[in-house]
Amino acid sequence: MSDNSLDPAPYTRRVATLPPGVPPGPGANAHLHSPVVPRHPRLDPLADRYAARTHGMKTSEIRALFSVVSRPEVVSLAGGMPAVTALPLDAVGSMIGDLVSGMGAQTLQYGSGQGDPRLRERICDVMALEGITDASPSEVVVTVGSQQGLDLVTRVFCDPGDVVLAEGPSYVGALGVFQSSEARVRHVPMDDDGLIPEALEQALLECRANGDRVKFLYTVPNYHNPAGVTLSEPRREQIMAIADRYDLLIVEDNPYGLLGFDREPMRALRARNSQRVVYLGSFSKTFSPGLRVGWVLAPLAVREKLVLATEAQVLCPPSLTQYAVARYLDTQPWREQIKLFTELYRERRDACLESLEAMMPAGTTWTRPEGGFYVWLKLPHGLDSKLMQPRAVNAHVAYVPGIGFYADGGGREYMRLSYCYPEPDQIREGVRRLARVIEAELDLHSTFDSVDTGTFRAVPRAVPNHTAENLVGPANSDHFEDGRA
Ligand SMILES: Cc1ncc(COP(=O)(O)O)c(C=O)c1O
Repeated sequence: MSDNSLDPAPYTRRVATLPPGVPPGPGANAHLHSPVVPRHPRLDPLADRYAARTHGMKTSEIRALFSVVSRPEVVSLAGGMPAVTALPLDAVGSMIGDLVSGMGAQTLQYGSGQGDPRLRERICDVMALEGITDASPSEVVVTVGSQQGLDLVTRVFCDPGDVVLAEGPSYVGALGVFQSSEARVRHVPMDDDGLIPEALEQALLECRANGDRVKFLYTVPNYHNPAGVTLSEPRREQIMAIADRYDLLIVEDNPYGLLGFDREPMRALRARNSQRVVYLGSFSKTFSPGLRVGWVLAPLAVREKLVLATEAQVLCPPSLTQYAVARYLDTQPWREQIKLFTELYRERRDACLESLEAMMPAGTTWTRPEGGFYVWLKLPHGLDSKLMQPRAVNAHVAYVPGIGFYADGGGREYMRLSYCYPEPDQIREGVRRLARVIEAELDLHSTFDSVDTGTFRAVPRAVPNHTAENLVGPANSDHFEDGRA
């Protein structure tokens, strides 16, 4: 029976009797004549009409936290929001004002589906910082953030049932896109050096044996969201060699590549092969996420399809924000601004790592990011970050439970901590609260360990069997354990 195949009773029961304690009297029966009030007001009368692809859609673990983390008493280590107040806000404000008053005829008008040509040129300059020196503006499509780029690429390549290989864990917004295209995600494990090439090859062999159509590998090589790790140089070469051997397309998602703390940007995968890699870039972390400007760099044939897909979706990206980014790159010291951002994030990363080191109970481990926004923390054996979450919120600290970053329900023993937004003192306080919550959880765990409540036991995760029905990839859990606190 479907959700909304209704027996009328639920709609009528409430009107037949007075609520307990309501005395009969004038007006007491008014409710009997008022419109029928559904007993289940959230029952959705359109439930049978939704497309199949909507059934698996769920609120992201991050969005689910929004109402909580905005409370002032809560230290949020949850959201990955850039520190935009470090921008020269007055200069940006007058720059945008000038764009409207001086160039309104263009900046307030529709534009090209592919994006403003001047901005596409400047995007090529930005990509050159990561070794992509052969990109032509004609291969660039401007998008509404790289999130739209991900959506376009997935629409262009994936039919329902196709397989996308993705790191385990993976960026939650990418998992949402794959899922809404009804692609199946198979995770490939990572360790401190990023995606493990041998595991990638293994996954490809198994998919081949299963007859699965692998459409691409989705990877975030730099300062991974959520794992905080970076793909090492030797592995970049290994992965490109595997891609050649297996005729694998790679979608390289790189919003954090210029946010390294102590080193020059690493050479992009796209710089090594222009035909096998579709590259996604963004100004969200280096300038402003509110402007929603990102891009895709793709071989010309793919670019053509991406432009058709974007025209169907949004006609064209917003003109004003494209002009704003191009003008910012033309007139503002944006390289210095990126340096300022990285110094600020490095200080916050240090505050986070130092306080984790000082306060976390034994058995807790975490990654040590060399750039970007995130630390990936593994709880002591048997704890579950999702079950622990309400107790953490009660203690006024928020994080994102690890399960949000897996398509297969894995990751319960992990959490993502973001250090990008709070001030260093808040980060220290947040980590202190979190350490207490974990200690309390450990106490409870040891108290209840012998009692079969099911609540405080480690939830044994099903070992994926890599069948067509269960294409979720090898369990990830043990790859981040070495050499940490
Ligand atoms: C790995 C990754 N890809 C893509 C995005 C989306 O960024 P944008 O704001 O450009 O849409 C994010 C945002 O956090 C991200 O972390």
